[in-house]
Amino acid sequence: MLWQASSSITAALLVSLASATPQIPGQVLTGTVGNATIAGNPRGPDVHGKYEIRGPGIRALFVPYGAAIANLFLNDTAGIERDVVGGFDNASYYTVDRQHPHFGAVPGRYANRIRNSSFEIDGQTFHVLPNENPEPGSPKGVDTLHGGPDGWDWRNWTVVAHTEDSITFSLTDPDGDQGFPGEVVSYVTYTLGNMTWDLRMVAVPTEKKTPIMLSSHTYWNLDGFANNETALALNHSLWLPYGGQRVGTDPILIPTGDILANAPQSVNDFWTAPKQLGANFTNPALLGNCGANCTGYDTCFLTNRQQPYDWRQAGPVARLRSAWSGIQVDVFTDQEAFQVYSCGGMNGSMALKSTQGLFNVTERPRVIEQYGCVVMEVEDWIDGINQPQWGRREKQIYGPGGDPYVLQASYKFSLNSTAVGLLGPGSG
Ligand SMILES: *[C@@H]1O[C@H](CO)[C@@H](O)[C@H](O)[C@H]1NC(C)=O
Ligand SMILES: *[C@@H]1O[C@H](CO)[C@@H](O)[C@H](O)[C@H]1NC(C)=O
Ligand SMILES: *[C@@H]1O[C@H](CO)[C@@H](O)[C@H](O)[C@H]1NC(C)=O
Ligand SMILES: *[C@@H]1O[C@H](CO)[C@@H](O)[C@H](O)[C@H]1NC(C)=O
Ligand SMILES: *[C@@H]1O[C@H](CO)[C@@H](O)[C@H](O)[C@H]1NC(C)=O
Ligand SMILES: *[C@@H]1O[C@H](CO)[C@@H](O)[C@H](O)[C@H]1NC(C)=O
Ligand SMILES: *[C@@H]1O[C@H](CO)[C@@H](O)[C@H](O)[C@H]1NC(C)=O
Ligand SMILES: *[C@@H]1O[C@H](CO)[C@@H](O)[C@H](O)[C@H]1NC(C)=O
Ligand SMILES: *[C@@H]1O[C@H](CO)[C@@H](O)[C@H](O)[C@H]1NC(C)=O
Ligand SMILES: *[C@@H]1O[C@H](CO)[C@@H](O)[C@H](O)[C@H]1NC(C)=O
Ligand SMILES: *[C@@H]1O[C@H](CO)[C@@H](O)[C@H](O)[C@H]1NC(C)=O
Ligand SMILES: *[C@@H]1O[C@H](CO)[C@@H](O)[C@H](O)[C@H]1NC(C)=O
Repeated sequence: MLWQASSSITAALLVSLASATPQIPGQVLTGTVGNATIAGNPRGPDVHGKYEIRGPGIRALFVPYGAAIANLFLNDTAGIERDVVGGFDNASYYTVDRQHPHFGAVPGRYANRIRNSSFEIDGQTFHVLPNENPEPGSPKGVDTLHGGPDGWDWRNWTVVAHTEDSITFSLTDPDGDQGFPGEVVSYVTYTLGNMTWDLRMVAVPTEKKTPIMLSSHTYWNLDGFANNETALALNHSLWLPYGGQRVGTDPILIPTGDILANAPQSVNDFWTAPKQLGANFTNPALLGNCGANCTGYDTCFLTNRQQPYDWRQAGPVARLRSAWSGIQVDVFTDQEAFQVYSCGGMNGSMALKSTQGLFNVTERPRVIEQYGCVVMEVEDWIDGINQPQWGRREKQIYGPGGDPYVLQASYKFSLNSTAVGLLGPGSG
């Protein structure tokens, strides 16, 4: 292991990092620095620039670009291996593709949208770079999405540790980058266990108070896009047992400050029972539900658990399942919100990976169709820095010498062969 940024690493971070990368006695820690393989380390990237880790019944590939997951393989109920996340075939293409939709990456330093690209800390107003919703007077946009035009998911991270079942990426984000105050040093560790994928993200501001909110922006299709009856994810069922409320947003998806109730049987009710993502797509109430002229979901659900709770024991905040493959994922997390995006912005311009889809192009184009996937983001209440009445600022603004920012989540996979429709039309 090496510590090239050691001057800016705090003791607290080192402690956090150490606990994030469990070392198995006798196992050699391996890794790379930039493009150079550490001496004695046989475990570099593969020929496509990807880094592999494995656990029982699960295998994944990652790229330094955005610290992103690029492939996630599981066997379905028929014993056929499925690659259940969106991504590209090789690491170099992530930089080449300029329209990439934060594929599998870590959005940062502040995930989701910042109203008016500005916020206040200790009476001082900060302006960050806008990158969404351009208007005549604001050609670059009127808000900031996922940390700005060069957010963390557009940068190559450094691989600092890589074992058989775990990989750690690091990024140092300089003072003033995208307009944010102060340097932030971050470590992201992914670990595979027995059909589980664990995420641990730590970020430490070394100089100034700054907003920090991270997430994992993974695009899921639990059929590996190989469902021979549909190219879409609308038959996936979603259950959000703690999702009785959501953040109200305006037509460009900026929080209004309102916290809204998800009434039973309404289009945003995923808490009373599992429901197919597409169950309410013919209901007119779903038009505009994900911003102006958008049908579907791009929604920040709250994960209201009774305090205090142990996030590993409190049960999943989400369950996503496809009856076709039988693959089910339960999401456990210490985060208080959960964004669901039903891929309304996909339009068939992103190619599938060689590991996905149907191979007969007459039958089906090898692309991600609109609603062909679903993004699930564990995070805090979006734009909480601009809604002080929510009381989320202490979970979103960090300073040197204080606690580090920490995000933890565990995705537990299983096979569930319950047939579609067995429990009624919405059950999936
Ligand atoms: C790493 O990159 C540097 C600069 O691009 C280059 O000079 C060097 O040869 C590379 N090393 C390896 C092992 O590829
Ligand atoms: C899927 O099953 C095959 C055959 O048993 C096995 O070789 C492969 O490793 C399994 N895939 C995963 C991701 O565990
Ligand atoms: C990398 O992947 C892209 C997209 O799939 C493809 O167009 C390109 O040819 C690949 N490049 C290499 C070197 O394999
Ligand atoms: C990221 O690394 C890839 C190699 O994997 C390289 O092709 C690309 O230019 C780098 N991109 C950036 C933004 O540094
Ligand atoms: C938005 O920011 C601009 C400066 O960039 C400021 O002049 C304006 O008052 C802000 N608008 C709102 C609604 O906060
Ligand atoms: C994985 O977990 C299953 C049950 O959840 C258990 O039967 C199996 O033995 C475990 N495999 C390993 C390698 O620990
Ligand atoms: C679709 O896939 C299922 C499961 O793999 C298979 O049983 C069925 O025969 C396939 N149908 C067609 C029309 O290929
Ligand atoms: C999708 O779900 C509906 C019920 O909501 C069912 O009628 C249909 O057969 C399902 N399609 C696929 C491809 O599973
Ligand atoms: C709304 O979407 C429809 C269908 O995609 C499109 O024809 C129409 O121009 C859009 N309207 C606006 C105001 O964007
Ligand atoms: C590909 O799919 C088309 C349409 O379903 C079918 O007519 C054709 O026979 C298929 N080709 C192969 C090689 O399976
Ligand atoms: C399997 O899925 C069905 C339908 O959503 C659900 O009722 C059941 O609880 C799931 N089983 C397990 C073990 O998670
Ligand atoms: C949404 O779909 C569910 C499941 O099919 C149904 O029970 C509910 O009435 C629908 N709600 C609306 C508003 O269409």
